[in-house]
Amino acid sequence: MQSYSLFAPAKINLHLEIIGHRADGYHELVMIMQSVNLGDKIHLRANGTDNIRLYCQNPEVPLDNSNLAYKAVTLMQEKFPKAARNFGGVDITIEKNIPVSAGLAGGSTNGAGVLVGINLMWSLGLTQPELRDLASLLGSDVPFCISGGTSIATGRGEEIEPLSDLTDIWVILAKYSNLGVSTPWAYNAYRQQYEQFYVSDGKEVKSRTHQVHSGELVKAITNKDSKAIGRLLYNDLEKVVLPEYPAVSELITAFRNENVLGAMMSGSGPTVFALCTTEQEATSIAQKVQNSINDPNLNCWVAQMCPHGIITIED
Ligand code: C5P
Repeated sequence: MQSYSLFAPAKINLHLEIIGHRADGYHELVMIMQSVNLGDKIHLRANGTDNIRLYCQNPEVPLDNSNLAYKAVTLMQEKFPKAARNFGGVDITIEKNIPVSAGLAGGSTNGAGVLVGINLMWSLGLTQPELRDLASLLGSDVPFCISGGTSIATGRGEEIEPLSDLTDIWVILAKYSNLGVSTPWAYNAYRQQYEQFYVSDGKEVKSRTHQVHSGELVKAITNKDSKAIGRLLYNDLEKVVLPEYPAVSELITAFRNENVLGAMMSGSGPTVFALCTTEQEATSIAQKVQNSINDPNLNCWVAQMCPHGIITIED
């Protein structure tokens, strides 16, 4: 086929723990990642030219080679030059629904979607593990975005191990449109404050990773115990982002006051998520918090945890 359309879900982090330094300059992490059904639609079409052309209705999205969707095509062209010559350039249209610079892996999931789409369009027959290996060359969150669902991510974030699926939890996502947090800034700020606690010995790193594998949150996920999941949310980056962005901290408190299952910042923020048992409850709490904060820059979405990453959809 000459064209494919894909759905690319956003992610939240149920657990984000920074363990230490890595030789490649990144941080050693243990995360529990979760896909949600707020997602972008990506349309790919062979365009009969030699060019990669990117289109998006959202002016905040760069349309040049800094975009991970664009980088994903370049990577596939480098790795599969013969197919690239046969098929020529690609038009990529991104229908953006995921907020930008939000800690929801919006850019990463677009990169993942393009890798999956090109694999299909060029009939390359790459498996999910092969696609995840390629994805790790684009960014730390991109491999998770390929397969999605609920997973433990270790290493830089690129080593993925699936956990049992969660679907019956509703997620309010809340973000101030005038706030964006730079991920490198958040990790650097964390390094500056907490470097003395970093663990770098391989054995210790393994032991910290094992603690999460055999810990309470993984048990709660296996038992589909929503209350415990809400109670056990954890994100180290809150320690540096919340003092710098008090509005984000106040937003978390506003959700916690509504008796949600749990509320936390996602990734490096500034998006806050709150977990609820039903869609109705999520919708009414989102409305209530929006009314009480009464700031035109505050946007809320209601989504559901979803058991998949990139999937193909009808045009
Ligand atoms: O891999 P990615 O490009 O998404 O990472 C963005 C930034 O986040 C990196 O430049 C780095 O500053 C920080 N990061 C990190 N350790 C990780 C993942 C990300 O320090 N494991």
